[in-house]
Amino acid sequence: MSLEFSDKTKKTIDKIIARYPQKEAALLPVLHVIQKEFGQISEEEEILAASLLGISQVKVREVVSFYTMFNRKAVGKYHIQVCSNLTCTLMGAANILNFIEEKLGIKPGETTSDKRFTLSTVECLGACEQAPSMMVNFDYHGHLDKEKINEILDNLE
Ligand code: FES
Repeated sequence: MSLEFSDKTKKTIDKIIARYPQKEAALLPVLHVIQKEFGQISEEEEILAASLLGISQVKVREVVSFYTMFNRKAVGKYHIQVCSNLTCTLMGAANILNFIEEKLGIKPGETTSDKRFTLSTVECLGACEQAPSMMVNFDYHGHLDKEKINEILDNLE
């Protein structure tokens, strides 16, 4: 089954592509739109992006696998990404991850049964000065401890 965009999304993608002298340069913004529409960038979405931009699927895969904001499979309403890189690890990231695992009852790569939370570990979030750090969707949270995590997660809608 091939993927189909809504008319609104198709217009958005056409506008994005028109901004660039070469279609290929629109890859990142087009991937964001595709992920918003389909909830993930799996192989099927990669093929779609490649055909839209006239590039190979491998080229799309290179980009999707490099950036952590693209999800190879659909995530829950809130995607928690805990940094597991050096500075955060030295500042207690493992304890932070364990606490979230116990609180939500899931391990990295898993989604809660109500589809509310997905937990992942990621490389440096570029917020080392606030280590240990995590992102919840597009929001950064740093200087994490158990109290702060409870406050952040318990206050989500
Ligand atoms: Fe965690 Fe940089 S090492 S944000």
